[in-house]
Amino acid sequence: TLRAAVIGVGHYLPDRVVPNSDFEKTLDTSDEWIRARSGIERRHFAAEGQTTSDLATRAARNALSDAGLVPDDIDAIIVATSTADLTFPSAATMVQCELGMTRGFAFDVQAVCAGFIYALSTANALILSGQARRVMVIGAETFSRIMDWTDRSTCVLFGDGAGALILEAQDGAGTSEDRGILSVDLHSDGRHKEILYVDGGVSTQTTGYLRMQGREVFRHAVEKLAATATAAMDRAGITPDQVDWIVPHQANIRIITGTAKKLGLDMDHVVVTVQDHGNTSAASIPLALSVGKERGQIKPGDLIVTEAIGGGLAWGAVVLRW
Ligand code: ACO
Repeated sequence: TLRAAVIGVGHYLPDRVVPNSDFEKTLDTSDEWIRARSGIERRHFAAEGQTTSDLATRAARNALSDAGLVPDDIDAIIVATSTADLTFPSAATMVQCELGMTRGFAFDVQAVCAGFIYALSTANALILSGQARRVMVIGAETFSRIMDWTDRSTCVLFGDGAGALILEAQDGAGTSEDRGILSVDLHSDGRHKEILYVDGGVSTQTTGYLRMQGREVFRHAVEKLAATATAAMDRAGITPDQVDWIVPHQANIRIITGTAKKLGLDMDHVVVTVQDHGNTSAASIPLALSVGKERGQIKPGDLIVTEAIGGGLAWGAVVLRW
């Protein structure tokens, strides 16, 4: 069977680390509150002038070196982001240019925090249909640029960063190897726009800030994430007891533990980075995959379920063998 297999991974986090205690100086909040409600202890923020495509390019270089490839070995670049540098061109073509890549094609995918799942699904489709042999899938965000720093219920939750995977068409036929993406499950429901959105954009000629009804998002999250993960596992023909790692979108530790519990999986099968990164939206999953590998948690052959939900609402899951 032809599969989109992971052959490289990398990430980049901006240098500036902001601990929870920094917010105590300007907001009526506390390190204890933020930790208890979200599991977040610190996050990285991009430097002034540092853009999403800068972060994405650094993550891309790290993934290329992990794979032992050069940019022109890649056929396509997909960047999942809601915080591209400019309205156009896409962040992906900027990354392509920065890498010095003069062949192939590049485009962005926008599904907010589910963006990386949507981008993985798109890359998988490109590979299975023969349109590309090697696809770089990047999640990159600078959510610090859309924070309302006077809103304590949102600005303490998000961070900046980027992660990248390289997928390659591989045919495991005749071998015991069945590495790569095994199944995908995607959903969206635009009726829930009001609970998580940015109140500005090109067509309204403002930049806007992220607005969220946290409790409402929470209410949808655990139920929808468990359902999509279950659907993806069913489609892949696997059961939760076979799963080595859940690599969830890192929004909030309570959503992560709630979802794992609903799936009947122990937390020692879950990669958790939210304490160090905060919610980096579309970047959180590739960041967690890269850090999980670096920590020695994720190993070749591991069966991974990755899932995310975000603005839209849009949500989904991917099952893959590393
Ligand atoms: N510090 C101190 N108090 C705060 C803070 C803060 N940073 N933020 C809110 N509060 C207060 C509220 O004002 C409220 O006070 P009130 O009762 O006097 O009105 C009180 O804390 C409780 O607020 P809730 O919003 O009900 O608190 P909750 O327990 O729901 O926790 C949180 C808030 C952390 C946002 C939670 O709802 C949550 O995690 N929701 C999911 C949000 C999320 O993860 N979104 C991202 C997923 S989608 C994506 O990634 C884009």
